[in-house]
This record gives sequence, structure tokens and C-alpha cells, in this order.
Amino acid sequence: MATNVNAEALKELPVPEHHAAGKQTVDPYNVSGEVGEDGVVKAIDYSKLVEEFGTKKIDQALLERFECVTGKKPHRFLRRGIVFSHRDFELILDRYERGEPFFLYTGRGPSSDSVHVGHTIPFEFTKWLQDTFDVPLVIMLTDDEKYLFSEKRTIEEVQGYCSSNAKDIIAIGFDPAKTFIFSDFEFVGGAFYRNIVRLSKHITLNQARAIFGFNDSTNIGRIHFGSIQGATSWASSFPHIFGTDEKKTAAIPALIPCAIDQDPYFRMTRDVSARIHYAKPSLIHAKFLDALQGPGTKMSASIDESAIFMKDTPNQIKNKINKYAFSGGKVSVEEHREKGGDTSVDVSFQYLRFFLEDDDELERIRVAYEKGELLTGELKAICIKELQTYVAAFQERRAKVEDKVVDLFMERRPLQWVGNPNAARVVPVVDGAAEGAADGKEGGDGKLTKNQLKKLEKQKMIDAKKAQKAKEKEEQATKAA
Ligand code: TRP
Repeated sequence: MATNVNAEALKELPVPEHHAAGKQTVDPYNVSGEVGEDGVVKAIDYSKLVEEFGTKKIDQALLERFECVTGKKPHRFLRRGIVFSHRDFELILDRYERGEPFFLYTGRGPSSDSVHVGHTIPFEFTKWLQDTFDVPLVIMLTDDEKYLFSEKRTIEEVQGYCSSNAKDIIAIGFDPAKTFIFSDFEFVGGAFYRNIVRLSKHITLNQARAIFGFNDSTNIGRIHFGSIQGATSWASSFPHIFGTDEKKTAAIPALIPCAIDQDPYFRMTRDVSARIHYAKPSLIHAKFLDALQGPGTKMSASIDESAIFMKDTPNQIKNKINKYAFSGGKVSVEEHREKGGDTSVDVSFQYLRFFLEDDDELERIRVAYEKGELLTGELKAICIKELQTYVAAFQERRAKVEDKVVDLFMERRPLQWVGNPNAARVVPVVDGAAEGAADGKEGGDGKLTKNQLKKLEKQKMIDAKKAQKAKEKEEQATKAA
């Protein structure tokens, strides 16, 4: 058996034009590794990005702090450096520890109906953060962005993708009581629009050019779009969740899990936040899942052979991995047995790092492949099984998401969350989350709505429970002493 047939894998993905320069490009609109002298795309150099963007690497000390504050083992993405960089994540941990409010914010550009496994990575991680922190989550569908940044797509087309994309996102397993999904075309207005304009007033054309590389021929919708993606980082954009008292909401930061290419939007937002005394969003950045063709490329929704899609059948998954997945194995079995394979470029192994939960098992596979004990065909078989399981589980959940579930997630309504149940003192968030706020009315007659009363009752119960817990803890502590 030949262990390494990369013939199909090596058929290059189209190299974008800006690659003429050969440099690594990572921004919201282009992602690809440096092109070497030989014309081959290199793996993305993430350390260089950390340096260029001025973010911080997630180190062991931060992971220990995370575990100490949450009592939870870090997610495999964190353990394996897949979620690898951050801005001010430690401040969010401090807030969580003190019982102070924050929220999660992430998003997706609805550019097609074809969601692939790469798209699910930031959402999987976001779901885990929501389960861990028990905080509100807003998910933005940037239909406007996908219209503005494409020559061909119509408004009707991108709006049409919103509902199916929302279903895909919901199928990851988000809690409807804590999650608000919105499309820009539907939601812009009221408090959100005020924040968009507030943000745009503080960005000059020069800055936008420097951050995003726009030029004189860029349409002005694209130039302005950053203020829409940015304004979602501010809690005051969501009065139905956080209330209408801007003195309070201005102090509630977002934690934004995203792929590293989205950082420029939020670098800009953090800068403006500081100037207008709003809480700066914190960020936590993920790496990309390589395309089947190998390091330096990213799965593309429009190239079927580049990705495993969430609609693929078990057989399609098997065939794609066998046929296209770039292999780090040697050309002949004999040579592979003797010299071993290279897991750092092997796509099947890289996918296992993303999807295989068991650390020991992953380590066994790595060692066996590098020693040449495990052949490429065998490694691919393990990867195929893991991906088939992941995709099948998703499809099962996805089949159950009906239109009315989408409506529920996208309805403007108050959310319910607890935050850190062990914090000494929980700072209440909502006291002005009036129903009227959702309609753009700001309440203000001093009377509580039915919904507010319900929330108040709930909060009282939660507070009482917490007080009880704290008392019990104290009693136990005195007993133990
Ligand atoms: N611009 C992103 C995309 O094209 C969508 C998005 C909006 C987003 N807000 C976000 C992604 C916040 C991550 C975090 O897919």
C-alpha cells in the first residue's frame, strides 16, 4: 500500500491576486499564508500575527487562572493552542470572579448555505464559553457585509441565507434563554443605530484605510461597515437585554470569541471605546482549520474539494479525506516505516487535534505516526471516523431546528442568566430592560412592565438562593476550622 498519494491534494487552490506580493495576508477579507519562491503557500505564521496585531499569546499561566476561576478544565482548543491569542481576557476572568456582568458576542457572514466544519469551530467554542460562564450571548449575522463585499450577491440572496445559517448556528446547541441572534438588515435602528453612528464619528477615513487597506475606489458602504460590526460590542446596543440605563450598560464589556482575521474590527472598536469611556471589548482568537489541501489554506465554502461540509454524507467524508487530505507520510510504506510521518503538515492529524477530545489518545496517534508505526491510510481512517461522528451528531440536531425555533432566537426579548454562582456578590445588570425598549421606546414612566416584574422576582429568588449557599459555605468553613 502506498502511504502517500498527495497528487490530488497538491492541486492548488486558486491563489488570490494580492498574492503577487507573496506575503502572508490575514484580514477580514483575505486569509492566506506566505507564498514561497517555489510558488507553494506556506502555513500561516500565527506568532507573527500576534506580534503584528499586538495581541497576547494565551499562556499556561492564563489557562491556570482560567481553571482556578471557573473550576473547569480548559477546552481542548485552549489546551492545544487552537484558541491561541487574546486581548484582555484576564479582565473578563477578574469580572467573572467578582460576579460582575459581561456578555459574549460573535457572528457570521451569511455568504452561502454551505456551512463547513471550519465555520463551526468558533461557534463550538462560543457554546462552551456560554456553558462555562452562564452569560448572555449575541450572534450577529452580517448580511449587509456579505452584500457590500461581493460584486455579485444581491440583498435578497444574502437575506435568504440568514435563516438557514441561523439554523446551523442553533444546531451547535446554544441556550435560547441566553442567546439573541439578529441580522443587520433586520436589527439596525434604535439604540443599536445610535451606537453605530457614535462609533463611526470617531473613525476617520485615514484610520479605516490604515486598518483595512481600503483605497479611493472602495465603495463607502464597505468603509462604514466596521462601525456596524464594532457597535455590537457595546451592551447599550441591546436595551432589551441590558436595560436602557447607559451609565450602567457603558461599563459592561463583551468577550468576543472569533477567528484572528476579525481582530482589525475590534482593534478599532477598542480604541474608540477608550475615548468615549465605554468598556473595551475583550477578545479571544482562534486559528483556522486548514483546507484539505494543507497548511496555509483555509476551507472555502465555494470550493467543494477544499472542505468537509456539514451536509456531507459519511461516504462523502470518507472519499474527500482519502482523496484530498494532504498527507505528511512518506512516498513508500518502507520509507514511512523507517522515517515516520510529519504530523505538523498532515491534514488528517491536524483535524484530529481539532476534533478528538482525548489528549492521551491524540498523543498516542502522534507518536505512532511519527515513528512510522501508523500508516497514512490508518491515520486517515481514524480521522474519517471522528469527522463522521461529529457531522452526524450535528445533522441530527440540525434536523430538529424548526422555523419557529429560529423565530424564538431572533425575537427581541429579555434573556435569563446567572453568571458566576460562586461569586461573593453578584452585580445585577438589568433594571431598565423594558419591553418598550425593544420597540425603540425608552420607557421612562417609572412603572415596571410585567416582564420586568417577572425578572425582578426571578432575580430575588436567585439572590436568596445565593445568599443561602454563601451562608452554608460559611457555616461549613467555621465547622472545618
Ligand atoms: N465579519 C464576520 C464574517 O464575515 C461576521 C462577524 C460579525 C463576526 N461580528 C463578528 C465574527 C464577531 C466573529 C465575531 O464572518
